[in-house]
Amino acid sequence: MLYSFELESFLEGLVPERDSLMNEIEAQSLRETIPIITPSVGNYLAGLVKISRAGNILEIGTAIGYSTLWLARASAQTGGRITTIDLNVDRLARALKYFERAGVAERIIALAGDAKAILPALEGSFDFVFIDAAKGEYLEYLELVCPLLNQGGLLVVDNVLFRGWVVPGAVFDSKYNRLVGGVREFLQKLCANYQFKTSILPLGDGLGVSIKQ
Ligand SMILES: C[S@@+](CC[C@H](N)C(=O)[O-])C[C@H]1O[C@@H](n2cnc3c(N)ncnc32)[C@H](O)[C@@H]1O
Repeated sequence: MLYSFELESFLEGLVPERDSLMNEIEAQSLRETIPIITPSVGNYLAGLVKISRAGNILEIGTAIGYSTLWLARASAQTGGRITTIDLNVDRLARALKYFERAGVAERIIALAGDAKAILPALEGSFDFVFIDAAKGEYLEYLELVCPLLNQGGLLVVDNVLFRGWVVPGAVFDSKYNRLVGGVREFLQKLCANYQFKTSILPLGDGLGVSIKQ
């Protein structure tokens, strides 16, 4: 969250209570410092899936399945199907257990491996793509998902404001120079890409929401 700790807490407090399974994953991620989307981002993703009635959803970066569950539950009524990719096999195995417990496993295909290798081999097309994996690879994902996204489809990308460090003059540890530069370049290229109508929302760590036109 980019404004202030107080505003972040206030906004997160407005997100409807999650059930015990989601609370368990949130607590687990906090304990293990697994970076997951904030509940306000999950809530927004769910709204987008419902409005767009997305049927075929692609996610890059599953971790232990928190964001996948927001997407899966939101698309339950429309029978949406989700393909989710992560190269961390242990995390993916844990995500699968959560999908089972949530009763949505049959609508989720979880693929283990590097998204850069998996995406070119994917069959079919998608109405909704959510990117939340390695920040330094965002430009590569963008190039690879573009042909997979249907006309009028939604591309949503997390962490595009990277703790506010993409703002010129922001102060941060120089070890992040390359990563911040990469996210800034991604953001500029996404916003300038004529194939997309993009808005950047200061929600969570910054969310890019693009419509493929
Ligand atoms: C920020 S976490 C995803 C969090 C998840 N979307 C959530 O909110 O619940 C990023 C994940 O991307 C995965 N990842 C990083 N680079 C990847 C790549 N090239 N291909 C597939 N997964 C990757 C990591 O293993 C990690 O689990």
